[in-house]
Amino acid sequence: MQIDGKHWTTIWLCDDGISVGVIDQSKLPHQFSTKILRSCNDACKAISNMVVRGAPLIGVTAAYGLMLAVQEDPSDKSIEEASNQLFHSRPTAINLAWAIERVSKKLSLVDKSQRAYIAKKEAGLIAEEDISICKAIGHHGYQLFEEIASSRGPERVMEPLRVLTHCNAGWLATVDWGTALAPIYKWHRNGRKVHVWVDETRPRNQGASLTAFELASEGIPHKVVVDNAGGYLMQKGMVDIVIVGTDRTTSCGDVCNKIGTYLKALAAKDNKIPFYVALPYSSIDWSIKDSSLIPIEIRSEKEVAYIEGKSISQNSKGNSSVVRLIPEESQSYNPGFDITPVRLVSGFITEKGFVQPGGGFSEKLFSI
Ligand code: MRU
Repeated sequence: MQIDGKHWTTIWLCDDGISVGVIDQSKLPHQFSTKILRSCNDACKAISNMVVRGAPLIGVTAAYGLMLAVQEDPSDKSIEEASNQLFHSRPTAINLAWAIERVSKKLSLVDKSQRAYIAKKEAGLIAEEDISICKAIGHHGYQLFEEIASSRGPERVMEPLRVLTHCNAGWLATVDWGTALAPIYKWHRNGRKVHVWVDETRPRNQGASLTAFELASEGIPHKVVVDNAGGYLMQKGMVDIVIVGTDRTTSCGDVCNKIGTYLKALAAKDNKIPFYVALPYSSIDWSIKDSSLIPIEIRSEKEVAYIEGKSISQNSKGNSSVVRLIPEESQSYNPGFDITPVRLVSGFITEKGFVQPGGGFSEKLFSI
């Protein structure tokens, strides 16, 4: 995607052919900077400190992390240790385990002397595939937008399509294009009108900081709303579709995504507004049927107790500033994700096409 007229992806192999560059998302939206990952440890830290985040990008970073480990030491022991360390860098997004398994399987088939080459090739492939997958999701989502826009009747044909999204499932959460935001980009680039309601997504503010940054960079009309505004907007008929990404979806169709997604799905159901989930197949957990078994990341209390932003005070104008929000005596609790049961989901947009929830969902996933 474009930033100041330059095309960026979120992750890339550096010109030296051995280190990996990433956009440092922990500094956005006020500072655009990049970081170089030179070891598996660097990749793990980038994932756990949310320098990179978003399920598909976490997966791609883990693949490159394994490449960095193998470049240093291609032994079985090193691969096992690196896989283990990467696997524990964040618990919820299934793409992490998916990518580690895919690369380590390839490595197990070749001699040690070949492993650095194979790891680089496989990580590069995963990154390239992620771009085409997201483009395909964008293509299918575009058709859905077309249906929803025309179902509003001819008198509203000139009005923008009003989309509400939660967290960041845009290009910053993938290598490029994004999942839930990909159809929005396609729609906008085709000259169609759109307006996006961006949930701020407390406590890490991925909506306010990242989704808003992306949409602003592409010149797409949007407004950031507090997380609790979605129900009001839906009751007032100000939303045509809700579209979100996912960190892990079970083969029954229950959707694990950023905390607060469930409440949006409930409000959408109550107001008869379509609620769609955009996802690559790598976000499907085929091994879990009971979504209560999905490990939900419990993050630091500090993320709730404090907030960081750009200072507007005279003395420190423009500098980053952290303030405490809650009383010194109060504690906080910070679950990172929740589960939206499949009964609240209108449909899934995958790289292969649409899948409707309901009877034989996992068979449908196989058959498209
Ligand atoms: O904690 P984060 O920022 O990694 O959470 C990201 C999300 O919840 C996204 O919605 C999800 O990963 C889908 S991204 C295409």
